[in-house]
Amino acid sequence: MELSSGPGAQGSEVRVGPVAGRPVGSVRSVEELMELLRACRGAWDTPDRSGDPVDLHDHALQTAHLLRRSHPADKELQVAGLVHDLGHLLRPGDDAGHADTAARAVRPLLGARVAGLVRLHVAAKRYLASVEPDRTLSSRSALTLRAQGGVMGPKEAAAFARDPLAEDAVTLRQADDAGKVVGLDAGVMDDWREILDILARRAGRSRTAPADAEGAPRGHATPLGRGLFPTDPAPGLPVGGRVVPATSWQARSP
Ligand SMILES: [Fe+2]
Repeated sequence: MELSSGPGAQGSEVRVGPVAGRPVGSVRSVEELMELLRACRGAWDTPDRSGDPVDLHDHALQTAHLLRRSHPADKELQVAGLVHDLGHLLRPGDDAGHADTAARAVRPLLGARVAGLVRLHVAAKRYLASVEPDRTLSSRSALTLRAQGGVMGPKEAAAFARDPLAEDAVTLRQADDAGKVVGLDAGVMDDWREILDILARRAGRSRTAPADAEGAPRGHATPLGRGLFPTDPAPGLPVGGRVVPATSWQARSP
């Protein structure tokens, strides 16, 4: 893995791996992803530390932990929570583009659904601000909301709600907002290594799977991660129906 400069705390861009033969900034292996996640220790969503009260490392672990608790069978959603803010590490200071940066980085390794959820986590914030106007945002979050496009209008919100990933993206967003508790123990990064290995293998198989009669790769008919693990308990909250889920998180951001 190549980290051509230090993590985001220094305010400089982190470049991931060589460019030849693949998209710039994509993560090539689980080991490389683990190295990036560890580099989140001491890196912040804003280079001047005016943003979230926990660093990107603790925020990733807390977000993933909350999703594992609420959606124990959906490993892709949990992992999306783990990696959703890597854009802040890869391109420090680019708040408006951090979701796209992270989605591009993880898509080759973790697949389309994880990348899609990561990409939508900012849109989900704008959607929630539209359908739940009384929802309280931190002053920093309100500031970045404007930079990220502001509150969605009715047409844009309706279009977002039709996205097949919308409900899960909203769930990710709620965990994102809650996973900022100083001092909360949400495990260690190595807890996620085995799940990342499994998802990476699964995404690799999907890339090479033969197409079905409609031309879609086999293996994409159902969301990856649901029922993937033999010991998975029953799925978490039902999928479908109204987009805004009824989940209320125990932990709230200050
Ligand atoms: Fe976040």
